[in-house]
Order: sequence, then structure tokens, then C-alpha cells
Amino acid sequence: MQLTHATWGEVSAYLARSQAIIVPIGSTEQHGPIGLMGTDALTAEAVAHGIGEQTGALVGPTLSLSVAQFNLGFPGTISLRATTLMAVINDYVLSLQRQGFERFYFVNGHGANVSVAKAAFQDIYAQFSLGSLTGQAPRCRLRSWWDYPQADALRKAWYGAAEGMHATPSEIAMTLHLLPGSARQAPPEFLAAPAQLPATFLRDHGGDNHWDAQTHREAFPDGRVGSDSALATAEQGGQLLAAAIEGGCEDFAAFVTQA
Ligand code: NI
Repeated sequence: MQLTHATWGEVSAYLARSQAIIVPIGSTEQHGPIGLMGTDALTAEAVAHGIGEQTGALVGPTLSLSVAQFNLGFPGTISLRATTLMAVINDYVLSLQRQGFERFYFVNGHGANVSVAKAAFQDIYAQFSLGSLTGQAPRCRLRSWWDYPQADALRKAWYGAAEGMHATPSEIAMTLHLLPGSARQAPPEFLAAPAQLPATFLRDHGGDNHWDAQTHREAFPDGRVGSDSALATAEQGGQLLAAAIEGGCEDFAAFVTQA
């Protein structure tokens, strides 16, 4: 059940049987020459809705704006500051916690969300630990869909190092599956596979820990960060989605039943 398609009475009835909610979280930013601006939100939402359909869990509205300052040199990118996103996550969680929700399961589609969401979770718990809020503190978990073992195995087998860090063939494959007819032809100057990322870059910039927008555009002029997006197919996207949903259902079940 989607929260946006439910009445308050239906949410109230849901709360009588479950206090868990799934929250898709993505970004709105450039995804290279053939990827869509909404890739991270579209993919996280599809995985979250799949988990919701298979488990009967409620799925909240998608958080589709995020921290993407490093991509602001590419038209269409919208970035929140990290402190803004932390405040949004805080208010999203505490609004629903007040009504009886206790477990918040974030399905993530954007690397930069990992550190920000975990910091927001710590600040939510701190309000209970320090006594400014009372009662049962909520519990939050964030999982990136590509980290579910079932999806991770597929992307490693299919793309290897060409998966890269941004505008990955796996995320492009999933949007090709979700939006038939959305395939784009790359401009000729961007047809070649990008250079493989050195291990030191992966170490220093994992989780989208990139520098400012001007530096980022100069380093990655077409927007891909070591990812050969053109390897993506819609058929692979369908398989990745199914694999991520399978992994997500297992992890969500473990989260909601955790003592
Ligand atoms: Ni992405």
C-alpha cells in the first residue's frame, strides 16, 4: 500500500497491524549522457514499491531531492544541503513516529544519502537519549538497493569494473526497464567507455564524497564517474529489480522482527 494512495483511516487500520514503513530515497541529478535526472529516485521507488507489494508494508512518499552539490555544474541537477536533508529526514520520521510508526526502512538509490541519512538517524535517537523527546524511540535502517547480495552479484557478473560509481550500467538498466522507450543515444563524443577509476579514487570518493561542482565537471565532463552506462539493457534492469526486491524483502523482514 502506498501512503499517498491511502486515506487516513486506512493508515490508521494499517497501524493496528504494523508499525513499519518503507521510505524510498533518491536524488534528482545528472546521470551522464544517456541517464535520466530522476534515476536514483525512480530506482529506489521501484524497489521500495516491490518490497511493499510482496510484504504488504506501507510505502511512504519518495524523497527525491538530495545532496548532489558536486553535480550542480550539469543542468537539471537540484541539490539540498546536507543539513537540509537531515532536517527533512528528521521531520518525516518524527511526524509518523508521533502517530505510532516505530520502524523506518529507507530504500536508497543515491550514494551521498548514506552518510547523511545515518547522521540524521543518530540525531533522531539523540533527542530520545538526551530527553528532549520521550517514549519509545523509532528505529531507522537505510539500505542501498545495489548492496542486496542478489543484486550485487548480478552487477558484478555483468559489468565488473565498468559498473563504476555514477551513471552505473545497473541503475541505467533499471530505468530502461521501468520506462520502456526511454533509451537515449549518446552524443558521438561520449560513446567511448570512460577510463577505469584508480583504487585511490574509489577509496577517497566512495559514497559520493566528491569535491565542488566545478572541480567535478572538469574531472568528469560527460557526468559518468567510471561507469560504462552503455552496457545497460532493459532486460538486465528487470532482473536487477527482481533481485533487489528479493534481497530487500529478506532484509526488511529481519528489520521489522528484530527485538
Ligand atoms: Ni544514481
